[in-house]
Amino acid sequence: GEGSLWGARFAGGPSPELAALSKSTHFDWELAVYDIAGSRAHARALAAAGYLSPEELDGMLAALDKLDRDVASGAFVAAETDEDVHGALERGLIERAGAEIGGKLRAGRSRNDQIATLVRMYLRDHAGVIAEQLIALIDAIASQADAHPAAVLPGRTHLQHAQPVLLAHHLLAHCWPLVRDLDRLADWDRRADVSPYGSGALAGSTLGLDPLLVARELGFARSSENSIDGTAARDVVAEFAFVAAQIGVDLSRFAEEIILWNTREFGFVTLDDAYSTGSSIMPQKKNPDIAELARGKAGRLIGNATGLLTTLKGLPLAYNRDLQEDKEPVFDSVRTLETVLPAFTGMVATLRFHTDRMAELAPQGFSLATDVAEWLVKQHVPFRTAHELSGSLVRFAEENGLELHEVDDEQLAAISPLLTPEVRTVLSVEGSVASRDGVGGTAPARVAEQLAALTDHVRKA
Ligand code: ARG
Repeated sequence: GEGSLWGARFAGGPSPELAALSKSTHFDWELAVYDIAGSRAHARALAAAGYLSPEELDGMLAALDKLDRDVASGAFVAAETDEDVHGALERGLIERAGAEIGGKLRAGRSRNDQIATLVRMYLRDHAGVIAEQLIALIDAIASQADAHPAAVLPGRTHLQHAQPVLLAHHLLAHCWPLVRDLDRLADWDRRADVSPYGSGALAGSTLGLDPLLVARELGFARSSENSIDGTAARDVVAEFAFVAAQIGVDLSRFAEEIILWNTREFGFVTLDDAYSTGSSIMPQKKNPDIAELARGKAGRLIGNATGLLTTLKGLPLAYNRDLQEDKEPVFDSVRTLETVLPAFTGMVATLRFHTDRMAELAPQGFSLATDVAEWLVKQHVPFRTAHELSGSLVRFAEENGLELHEVDDEQLAAISPLLTPEVRTVLSVEGSVASRDGVGGTAPARVAEQLAALTDHVRKA
């Protein structure tokens, strides 16, 4: 078609059916600011190589500035006939700079190297936003840990009572995966820090433009070593989608526990009114919708990553139009996380913990049986025997409806003379927790060190 980026060799315009399928302006408009930034850098590279006079460059840059403002204000929008953001913005540039100057910008670049660069710019910016939001969430969890240094809860394996742990230790166990996600984003950025601009359609340019000039101006340390790879690769997008999915999975595991803790049966937490929802029929209800949405959105984030990899699988080099399918899923992952994370942080920051309830349940379910066995080991009993004796004690207590500390001295001695009354020193939750004082353990002193290490790690991130 007339005025499009590629109409000349065609006898007529595109069919309406093709145009409807091909069009991407409804989602790639998100990249308009990056497209214009790329155009500024490309104009300078053209001028440096002698294809634009200083006056033409000034005219071009002034028109791009005007276009930038008009896009921001909404005065310039995609037209029905624009295929994608690149074509629309060239039209906008020509409307502002005239065809004589505006028509020179497209030399030495292709939408293929443009789009590969712009999606990186978009993702790098949003990786920064998501990293800030992750830090805010980590801070909120760590603050709750800091505010409850002595509270205990029943630590679980298989969702069954296992051993008592500090609430702070458990909360920090939700922080570390998020800290690793933060590290993943930083590590991802090392690979994203490469600009494909200058790769052209696939083979590079004949015009002697300097890709590094463009790369540096757009905030990249390097430009692509291989123009085919530069235009064809999307692993950087897929990897971002994976990190987003992993963040979703990490949130969903904490979310699931908050949902459980908030039930009447657990009674461990109360959600703040501002971060919970009601029921349209049941007046008494207060629901953990933020946690449920976070858990649900993890599925969507995983779907985006899976869909992207599926699109990429088996694609021949170099550019194929299939690659246009990278944007909607990864944009969705960005928007999803940027909406979920602040809500999740608010929910966590305002959680009220019922530490009495947790403390009441912590010793139940014979959760101190391991402490008995390890106490016996300290008396030089082989662990195999110690495990059996402690198991016998549990069976006796269970059969007689007792907790371990309720078994009296005579009953202990009847089970085994090795079970002297001194074993009681380890039959308290506080004693149990305090004695797990190896590195990484749940003893209060170790957890305080852990909190300091975590804070330090995040500060350096
Ligand atoms: N809109 C395309 C994309 O998102 C970029 C344009 C490349 N189009 C083309 N026919 N080579 O990947």
